Amino acid sequence: MKFTKLLAAAVIVAAGVAYAEVEATDPNVIAHQDLMKMIGKNTGILGDIAGGKTAYDAAAAEGAKAALIEASAKIEATFKEQGAADPGSEAKPEIWTSWDDFLKKAGALNAAATAMDVASVETIGAGMGGLGGACKDCHTTYRVMK
Ligand code: HEC
Repeated sequence: MKFTKLLAAAVIVAAGVAYAEVEATDPNVIAHQDLMKMIGKNTGILGDIAGGKTAYDAAAAEGAKAALIEASAKIEATFKEQGAADPGSEAKPEIWTSWDDFLKKAGALNAAATAMDVASVETIGAGMGGLGGACKDCHTTYRVMK
């Protein structure tokens, strides 16, 4: 069970790294993607600790958790402007027609990051399922998966 969760989290992080092939040029789209890159990077730090790829480091784990809480709280302000049509964007237009639901999913990520106990490798591992689930829940609905 635990291993399955870790594996699921690792797959989600790996999938997040497969960025768009076309570079975005619209400043709003770039801002959306920069925030997501920040979220991906910090999820990766926790995933690597949980998976034993990097040694447990309390400061690094606490920093990643804090960064995830902060970044997820910025989703609303950062995504507010859809920006121009940009072939480099993987954001579905439904974000802006289902804005309240999108914000609910951003809130779920914030809650999962807040609930993450970074006291040990085991507790991080236990929290990765919830964290990865929040990414997947939003990406499935609002991100074009290429
Ligand atoms: C509330 C919705 C939402 C949540 C929650 C969310 N994402 Fe995203 N994510 C998006 C959208 C939308 C895009 C596409 C942005 C674009 O290309 O314009 C995206 C794109 C990305 C990208 C690609 C960025 C790039 O380089 O273009 C990464 C990496 C990523 N997300 C990681 C994560 C991880 C890891 C989590 C969970 C810890 C997460 N996201 C949670 C909506 C979300």
